[in-house]
Amino acid sequence: MGIRRRRLSLLLLLLLLLCCSCRDPAAVTWLIPGADGAVQVGFNWGVKAFHPLPPDVVVRLLRDNGVTKVKLFEAEPQALRALGKSGIQVMVGVPNDLLQPMASSVSSAVNWVVQNVSSYISKHGVDIRYVAVGNEPFLTTYKGMYQETTFPALQNIQAALIKAGLSRQVKVTVPLNADVYQSESGLPSGGDFRPDIRPLMLSIVRFLLDNGAPLTINIYPFLSLYADPNFPLDYAFFDGVSSPVVDGSVQYTNVFEANYDTLIWALEKNGFSTLPVIVGEIGWPTDGDSHGTVENARRFNQGLMNRIMRGQGTPKRPSTPPDTYLFGLLDEDAKSIDPGDFERHWGVFYYDGRLKYQLKLDAGRDQLVPARGVRYMRNQWCVLSPAASIDNPEVSMSMDYACGFADCTSLGSGSSCNGLDARGKISYAFNQYYQAASQAIGACNFQNLSVSTTADPSQGQCLFQIAIDTGTHESAPSSSGASRSSSTALFFQAHPAAVLVASLLSLLLLT
Ligand SMILES: *[C@@H]1O[C@H](CO)[C@@H](O)[C@H](O)[C@H]1NC(C)=O
Ligand SMILES: *[C@@H]1O[C@H](CO)[C@@H](O)[C@H](O)[C@H]1NC(C)=O
Repeated sequence: MGIRRRRLSLLLLLLLLLCCSCRDPAAVTWLIPGADGAVQVGFNWGVKAFHPLPPDVVVRLLRDNGVTKVKLFEAEPQALRALGKSGIQVMVGVPNDLLQPMASSVSSAVNWVVQNVSSYISKHGVDIRYVAVGNEPFLTTYKGMYQETTFPALQNIQAALIKAGLSRQVKVTVPLNADVYQSESGLPSGGDFRPDIRPLMLSIVRFLLDNGAPLTINIYPFLSLYADPNFPLDYAFFDGVSSPVVDGSVQYTNVFEANYDTLIWALEKNGFSTLPVIVGEIGWPTDGDSHGTVENARRFNQGLMNRIMRGQGTPKRPSTPPDTYLFGLLDEDAKSIDPGDFERHWGVFYYDGRLKYQLKLDAGRDQLVPARGVRYMRNQWCVLSPAASIDNPEVSMSMDYACGFADCTSLGSGSSCNGLDARGKISYAFNQYYQAASQAIGACNFQNLSVSTTADPSQGQCLFQIAIDTGTHESAPSSSGASRSSSTALFFQAHPAAVLVASLLSLLLLT
């Protein structure tokens, strides 16, 4: 009798737990310490590469690492299709060159929304949450080029979302560079919008607030350091500084907080203290500059992740960290290097999805894992022929030609291949060209100054790459026993209540 009653009450408890977990799975997570560790940070997924990693491989990489938010600069059809039913939330961008057409007529905005938002949501199951209108359109280097069109484009896209019945689930935003605000006093409390765009910013901000939409800001402590040789190095990171910036009762120990709070002050001063602000891009490059190293990138990004894991905001908005998107996921070897050689090296992962450094994204997850199922071209490199003399004037002409087309930013001072000797540097350039040209017949010629080799010429940190084969990737992950057992583990991680139910069941069977 006693045993039966115990069984009965256990059964009741079990049913009760099952019921609450049906209604709200989060309601029982407190029972499992550490089970709430979901990755908060999103990633920017740029595709300006000679051989972009196939979208299905990228989506698998994101999912394997528990990433649930991604930002695209354009409505890339293949990327969007791969994101369908992935459970990953998407911010999709309207590129600057579409601002003019979007601004000029509501119907072009309607077409854009129908083709690039509605259809992906309804036909492909893509979880689109934001449309980012333009990308840093008020950057001072654009000299006002997009100042007339950004706000009308924003209004038309919003009207199109309303027309499509999507304005509740999909919010508009404008990703801006941090140069849209400034502080005359140099302190966050002196923050206000840049005078030349102040009225425009106030109109945009009011529009966003009225539509329940956030403002998006890109903040780059690396660029503060890069631009100013006297910038205190430690102030770019999150480990504390010997002399903080004192602003009234607040002490700022890193430029990220000071920069973000300058914007919050600017908003507050103009009557918009409640507007949500997303950090649309933040990160650190690993090459192309003396400060662009793997060690610095890990230090910065891990410091940022730790704040997010702790739920730490900034002095002006202390209670929650801003919604944040890292820049970026993968290196992009075809990006413009106008900003600097580092511009092609922002990835947490290399071009092929290999990991550059470990990064803990959330408390419940130890290791980042690299991309799976990546296919490469033949193991064949192009190097300077041993018979060629480097005094031959054709050599430097060939090297310039190679680097004019392919990415040689790792050769510069302070970069990963700068330590190579002259012959090594020429070989590196030839190989970059050869790989960018997909190892095409004739792409390793250079007036007979080069030869192809199957011996990897990589030296130390300097990697001689092999291009990825963008054509022949598996579309589905392997179904080996190992991956099955790990998906079981993932199931229990995602459904902590299931662990409880399973252990209660075994208890029942034992009694
Ligand atoms: C959808 O987005 C793509 C990529 O930005 C663009 O090329 C295309 O023109 C867009 N469609 C419409 C109807 O504007
Ligand atoms: C390269 O070598 C081949 C064979 O030795 C020769 O026929 C050709 O003219 C050479 N080309 C150049 C540009 O030197």
